Amino acid sequence: MPVATLLVHRGGPGEAPRHDAFEVAYEPGESVLDALRRLRAEADPTLAFRYACLNANACKECMMLLDGRVVYACTARLEPRAMRLDPLPNKPLLRDLATVLAPQDERLG
Ligand code: FES
Repeated sequence: MPVATLLVHRGGPGEAPRHDAFEVAYEPGESVLDALRRLRAEADPTLAFRYACLNANACKECMMLLDGRVVYACTARLEPRAMRLDPLPNKPLLRDLATVLAPQDERLG
């Protein structure tokens, strides 16, 4: 069965960056977010990433870098190859692939 290898950024602010390699069965039509959710359920419950709408491309919570390019993980297709995932570089890092999304100066009235 074809396999996708996800090289996932791990760790939080101030930690030395590292990537963990996870192999997942390649399912045609699955998104990168589908694979991450599967990994968290089956392999590593500590894996941190954000999403809210799953595939409507509406919440914009799942934005991350795939091979250095900004994508929505819920619409980026899983492929049977090595895929490198990193958090958005211009947002404060929380942990792994999760970043702070609200603008720094956002205030509630
Ligand atoms: S999960 Fe909402 S845009 Fe991707």
